[in-house]
This record gives sequence, C-alpha cells and structure tokens, in this order.
Amino acid sequence: MLDHLPSPHSLPPRKVWLKTFGCQMNYHDSERLLSHLEEINFTSTDSRDDADLILFNTCSIRDLANSKFYSHLGELKKFKQRLGRELVIGVGGCIAQIEGEELIRRFAHLDFAFGTDVIDQINQLVLRAYLSEEKFSLNKWDRGRDYSIETKIVHGEPQAFVNIIKGCDKFCTYCIVPYTRGREKSRRLAEIVGDCTNLVKEQGVSEITLLGQNVNSFGKEHSETLAELIERLEPLVGLKRMRYTTSHPYDLSDALIAIHGRSKKLANNLHLPVQSGSDSVLSRMRREYTIEHYLDLVERLRAANPALSLSTDIIVGFPNESEEEFLATIELLNRVRFDSIYSFKFSPRKGTKAAKIDDLLTEEVRGQRLQQVQKRQLEIQAEDRQKMVGQRYEILVEGSKVMKGQFKWSGRTSCNRIIHFLPEQEGVDYQWQWIEVEVIEATALSCQGRVVRE
Ligand code: SAH
Ligand code: SF4
Ligand code: F3S
Repeated sequence: MLDHLPSPHSLPPRKVWLKTFGCQMNYHDSERLLSHLEEINFTSTDSRDDADLILFNTCSIRDLANSKFYSHLGELKKFKQRLGRELVIGVGGCIAQIEGEELIRRFAHLDFAFGTDVIDQINQLVLRAYLSEEKFSLNKWDRGRDYSIETKIVHGEPQAFVNIIKGCDKFCTYCIVPYTRGREKSRRLAEIVGDCTNLVKEQGVSEITLLGQNVNSFGKEHSETLAELIERLEPLVGLKRMRYTTSHPYDLSDALIAIHGRSKKLANNLHLPVQSGSDSVLSRMRREYTIEHYLDLVERLRAANPALSLSTDIIVGFPNESEEEFLATIELLNRVRFDSIYSFKFSPRKGTKAAKIDDLLTEEVRGQRLQQVQKRQLEIQAEDRQKMVGQRYEILVEGSKVMKGQFKWSGRTSCNRIIHFLPEQEGVDYQWQWIEVEVIEATALSCQGRVVRE
C-alpha cells in the first residue's frame, strides 16, 4: 500500500465515470468516493467514453441487482480492448465485499476490487492500480472502535444524505446486508451535529436525510439515540426538513414516536418495512416482531402525527409461504393502507439462512403473488390519493421534464409524494425552490398541482 500520496498538483487531470447500484447507502458512499478522488485530480464525467477511470458501486440485495452489474461489467471487456488508451476499472460496494477476489480472477479487464469498509482509502487504491500491473482486491473490515467519516462532501443541492450508522446486526434470514456491510457501528452524535451544521450553514442545505440500514439502533454503543439526535438538529436555523431511513419496527422507540408528534421539521413520512403480514413468516424471517406489535406502532405513530404517511417494503414468496400466509399480507395492506410500498419476490442470497431452506414454491406462484400485492396496493393508493385534491402542500422543487408534451416541474411534499405542476409563467426557474402548491388531480401514481405561493 502507498503510504504517501503524491500531491494532486503533480498528477495529471483525469476523469472518472462512476456507476452506482443499490440503496441510498451506496449513493452516499459514491458521493464520498468522488469527494476523495477530487483530491487526486479526478473530475466526474457523465460519459463513459471520456473516462480514464471507471468505477462501479455494486449491490447484491437481490439477484436482479447482481445481474445488472455483471452485464455492465461484461460489456466493458470489448470496450477496453478497442479503446487504445489507458483505462482503469475498479469495482466496489456490496458485491465486491463478498466476491472481490472471485471478480478479479474471472474478469481479466478488471483492475481492482474494494469492499464497503475501505471507502476512505480509495485514493491509495486508485494510485496503486495506476502504478502497478498487479490486480488486487481489498475487502477488509474497519476494526477500529470508532466510526468517523470525513465531512468534506460538497453538495451543490439543498438535499443531503448524512450517514449516522453503518452495518446491520439483525441477520434477517433472507438478507445479505449483514455480510456485505458488517457489524453495526454508529458515528458520535456530536460529529453528526457538526456535519449537519456545516451543511446547513456553509452549503445551503435545507433538507437532511439521516441514513443507515437500521437507524433505530443508532448510538447504542455510546448511549446516544436517534431521538436525541433529531432533537439536537431541530433548532438548526436554515434546516427545513429532516427524514431518516431505514427503520426496523423492533427498535422504534417510544421517544422517537413522541418526536413525530412534536417536531416541526421531521417529515410527515416514515418508511417502516414490514416484509410480511403473517406472524409465522415474520418468525421464519427472524424479524423479531409480530403483526400486533407492528399495528400498535402504526396506531401510535398516527396518533402522534395524524398527517404521517407510511411506506413499507414487502417480500412475497418467502420459502414455502402458504396461500394463507400470503393472504395475511394482503390483509395487512387493507388494514394499514400504506401510502406506497416497495414489493419484491423473495430472491435467495448465497450464505443466508433462507437460501438453505428446501423451498417448494415456484417462480410462477411468486410472480402471481407479487402482481396481486401490487394490484391491491394501487387500488388503495388510487382511493386514498383522491383526498389530496384541493389540499395545499409545501414542496421542494427537485426537477423538470416534458410530460405528455407539456413542460412541468416537480417537487416532493413532506409526506414524500411527488407533485407535478406547470410554471406560472414561461421561463420561471423553480429548481430547488420551496413553494406551495395545491393538488388539482391525483391518481394512484401521480399528482398534478398548481402554484399558489412562490
Ligand atoms: N435495512 C432495511 C432495508 C434493507 S434492503 C430494512 O431492514 O428494512 C431493502 C429491502 O429489500 C428489504 O426491506 C427487503 O424488503 C428487500 N430484500 C432484502 N433481501 C431480500 C431478498 N433476499 N429477496 C427479496 N427482497 C429482499
Ligand atoms: Fe437486512 Fe434485516 Fe438488516 Fe434490514 S434489518 S438490512 S432486512 S438484515
Ligand atoms: Fe444493496 Fe448493499 Fe444497499 S446489498 S441494498 S447496496 S447495503
């Protein structure tokens, strides 16, 4: 390993094309990678053809995520051969953490692989790849006691993600994450508050999402809590909205529920993955809660903040899920009436407990169940979103596009719904403005509005 990095001024300017797969943790890690690489004279490019360095930040949560990455990597073989100039290719993230060495062995055009716990060493790894002919893979865990991350990401935008805890100790039987991200480790509350203060005061950030695989476990090793962290961030002048994700229902504390009632800045939205509506499936998944417990949380959260919208994750077709167990999930959708759901077919992940179960379900049944869940949820959304018509919402405008021939802007409400709207006058630039809109039309999947206050 290179102990001393050359000065960035002595390195030629180079371009990096970084392709990210997976969850917000990976997108956050990609921001960190780019902020490091700037120090050794790399700028980011949107065009693969211009790149001197290609990096993938990979995900292995389901088979589909895996295969998407492998097809991208495969395509690069001929691309690199034809290019006729130097190109370095590196693979990081969750696939590299568990299959780094194998990747290096199998793909001759790949120069290096790096795991999820060595993000802050990327510059050394890239320079090593440039300076040596030898391919390598590094996937060691950070065994240090404390988890501290460099706070130098420059956000050109008012929305920022701030990582507060890494890893996961839950070991849900279907899930690969504890193997790809390691044990839970929290940053210190004071470091996070400092980081957020800098983002708000120096970089004009107004919406912060606190991130982790299980943010409700935040601070255990230091006797600090997520509820405390949110209270400390609340008075930050300039901060308008806070979100946190992802929450595990088992660890959602009374203090956190109470804050949903009290906080003026915490968004009217919570993503609370339930996975299944059946207690027996939840037990086989090792989720540590029952549906009764989950429904009690929902009731208390809604009592604390009646405007709260809830979203969730559902897995259908867990090994040997019976028809009755599956129907309990449909029943749960009917009872909770989630604002939106992410639903997946169970995908066996090598090394997890659930992958070893002798599973009698067919892919066809899994496919049918997924369709059934999605169909029922869309009906619920179509009904419930009608209630939005005529209501006013404050939104942060995130972008614009042409929809059915009309140029429209769109922004996100506190309850995490996207609203599209026409500009008041042609040519007005609403990008990253906080404005008020009234919903004039709502369907299961989209809401149209009009500007009432700029
Ligand atoms: N940490 C979060 C989410 C992790 S992954 C949590 O605990 O809720 C995001 C979602 O992917 C999970 O909530 C789950 O619904 C889904 N998922 C994870 N592993 C899966 C698998 N093997 N097959 C299908 N879906 C899976
Ligand atoms: Fe995976 Fe469960 Fe951890 Fe979420 S809580 S990351 S589903 S092991
Ligand atoms: Fe995927 Fe890793 Fe996130 S497996 S979902 S990128 S933690």
